[in-house]
Order: sequence, then structure tokens, then C-alpha cells
Amino acid sequence: MTKLSVNINKVATLRNARGGNVPDVVKVALDCEKFGADGITVHPRPDGRHIRFDDVYALKPVLRTEFNIEGYPSPEFIDLVLKVKPHQVTLVPDAPDQITSNSGWDTKTHFSFLSEILDDFSSAGIRTSIFISTDAELVEYAAKAGTDRIELYTEPYATGFVKNPEKAVTPFIETAKIARSLGLGVNAGHDLSLENLNYFYKNIPWLDEVSIGHALIADALYMGLETTIKNYKKCLSE
Ligand code: PXP
Repeated sequence: MTKLSVNINKVATLRNARGGNVPDVVKVALDCEKFGADGITVHPRPDGRHIRFDDVYALKPVLRTEFNIEGYPSPEFIDLVLKVKPHQVTLVPDAPDQITSNSGWDTKTHFSFLSEILDDFSSAGIRTSIFISTDAELVEYAAKAGTDRIELYTEPYATGFVKNPEKAVTPFIETAKIARSLGLGVNAGHDLSLENLNYFYKNIPWLDEVSIGHALIADALYMGLETTIKNYKKCLSE
């Protein structure tokens, strides 16, 4: 089964626009679980412009499904993750002021940096994942560095899907096969949507997890959160 992890950063962005606690991100996370999400993803950034560190602490004790914390492994982030002990940590190479993650790790250049951090998380019993583009060599270095999974950076798939779905998905199938042959689990995320998710899933049905935020929360404005989550789940089952 491919799990759907809902990224609730956009919910925090909406809350932060006004101050106060509307919408309540903890309640939304619990409702996502109630409506069928298999996990919750948060991406705390140093400036707290979306999910804040205190949200991460508030979510951990109440979530019933998989908790995934993604972000750049700064000392503050590492400390947070080691204290909270989520099911999974996803390392993302984004600069503090970046609007959104827009590239995967160069696992060759940052090999020792990543190896050390992965080791710290693994020793704490936290499953690790590295955000990565479709490059065989970088996946091999990710495996050597000791990650449990990779998360495929799917923005190029989403962009290419509009013109030529088969061409867009091909490098992702190849990279996912390499990862599988190296014993790695495979997650995917970024710009996945109701339009492109099912095709991706059908081509890589052994995907462990997709993490989806922007399109899902935007769809919920029209369909409501419950119907939206059910529709995304359907894309992962047919
Ligand atoms: N995976 C990672 C590593 C991300 O940084 C993001 C965006 O925060 C996502 C998945 C989700 O992307 P989207 O919001 O486009 O669904």
C-alpha cells in the first residue's frame, strides 16, 4: 500500500496570516487522519513562516498515524527531530529563505555531512529519507550514506506530465527501480495532484509514501478536506 502523508504547512501559513489559532493545525491534522490520511508531514523552517517548532511538539503526542518531519538539517532542526522522535525524518537541501524545496540533494558532494546526520537519526530509531532527483549515481551515494528511503523530487514529473506523461514518468520509474535494488524504500513528493498522482502510482506501485500539500489543500477549498483526502486515496488504489 502506498501511504498518503498530508503536508499541513499551508494550513499553518493560513493561520499565521492573521495570528491567533484559526485554523487550528492540530485539529486539521487530526481531521486529516480521521478522513483517511496515513500520515502527517510538516516542514518547519527557521523563520517559522509555516509550521513552527511549537506546532511540531504539539502534534507529536496526539497523532495516531505516521509523523514525518522534513527540512534542512541545521543544528536546530536536528535537535528538534531528536527530541520529538517522529517516525520519519526527510532531509531536504533548502536554504532558509527558499519559497519551497526546488531541488534534491547532491549526495556525492555532501556525502560525509549526510552520513553523519543519518547515523544520528538512525541511532535514535528514526527512519530516514533523503529528497533526491532522478540520478542513479546520487541514489547510490544516498544508499551508501545510510538512508532508509529516498523521496523522489517530483516537480519535473508534474511539469512534464501535462505534455507527455509517459516521457515524464520514465526517469522516475528507472530511479525507483535502482533504489529498490539497493534495498531503499521509495517516497515521492512535490507538485503531485489529483491530475497526475494516479498515473505516477500506476507506474511505480511499490511506492511507500507520497507526501502532498499544496494541491491537496487547494483542492480542499472546493471539495472540502474529507472528500479531497478520499479522492487522493483513490488515486493510490486504482
Ligand atoms: N516533499 C518535500 C520534501 C517538500 O519540501 C514538499 C513541499 O514542502 C513536499 C513534498 C510537498 O510538495 P507540495 O506542497 O507541492 O505537495
